[in-house]
Amino acid sequence: MIDISVLESEALGSIKEVKDLKELEEVRLTYLSKKGRVQELMMQMRELPKEEKPAFGQKVNELKRTITESLKEKEESLKVVLMNEAMEKEKIDISLDAYTPSYGTLHPLTLMSEAIEDCFIGLGYQVAEGPEVELDYYNFEKANIPKGHPARDMQDTFYIDPVTLLRTHTTAIQMRVLEKAHGQMPIKLICPGKVYRRDNDDATHSHQFMQVEGLVVGEGITLADLKGTLQFMVDSLFGKGRAIRFRPSYFPFTEPSVEVDMSCHVCGGKGCPTCKGTGWIEILGSGMVHPNVLKMADIDPQKYSGFAFGVGIERLAMLKYGIRDIRDLYTNDVRFLKAFKRFD
Ligand code: DAH
Repeated sequence: MIDISVLESEALGSIKEVKDLKELEEVRLTYLSKKGRVQELMMQMRELPKEEKPAFGQKVNELKRTITESLKEKEESLKVVLMNEAMEKEKIDISLDAYTPSYGTLHPLTLMSEAIEDCFIGLGYQVAEGPEVELDYYNFEKANIPKGHPARDMQDTFYIDPVTLLRTHTTAIQMRVLEKAHGQMPIKLICPGKVYRRDNDDATHSHQFMQVEGLVVGEGITLADLKGTLQFMVDSLFGKGRAIRFRPSYFPFTEPSVEVDMSCHVCGGKGCPTCKGTGWIEILGSGMVHPNVLKMADIDPQKYSGFAFGVGIERLAMLKYGIRDIRDLYTNDVRFLKAFKRFD
């Protein structure tokens, strides 16, 4: 005969010893399965006298309940242990230094081009582009610089063959735009892009650089419109308070032609090394579109007039950011490039 209380303390003892859920299941099967120890007790009941059966049955049921409860308790405490172990394994060390991503910055030439574009788009201009490998025809002929014209010497040119070249100025885009307009007026455009010259690179020259061409053609456009427009551009790029002045100059595609100076943004016009003591800094070339240029594009110069200008982006960026050597803009030294922030 199995003793109920012995079986109980044996079962509770084994449950206590259990280390994981698998062992716990084994213990459960040992005591509570159909062929388990508690079932064996039930079998003994058959041999008992009738009057002892109910009391015995009740005791076996109590034993079953006690073991079941103990198993449940053990299962819960094992689950807590397992969860704590898992949490310990997956613990994140919040005292570790966080990875700080390093952000790129926009190139100073991109910043300057975007600032110029923003300024003119705000005035209702459109942006046009053209090919860098260009025909002599658009770069020179249509700009009123025929073959043999001495002005061709103003810009040393990379020729690809006798009729194809690397454009020397964005004025070539201006000529394409005028032709494409088919006399549709008004025209209000800026044309940014790379240009090429056969120059030896030094602190102020680069064989490749960037320009933005501006072009407005319509009825009654005058030099005063040009001046007001350029003053607006200088105000937006260098802040209000800079004066501009026109000096007579020569470009074959404009008549009259002017060179434009801005009062020095470093000394305010008093004279300093940046403006070489003059108080003025040359910033661009411009003028009224030459009647020959208009005629070549089938635009009647009696009815329409226009202004144009061409500005070097490197030059403006160097002035704005105090960069001394144009080559710094092309050598891509990250320490140099990191210094540039967006326009405010
Ligand atoms: N194309 C000239 C250059 O590269 C700049 C220029 C001057 C452009 C006068 C113009 C202009 O549109 O009207 O030196």
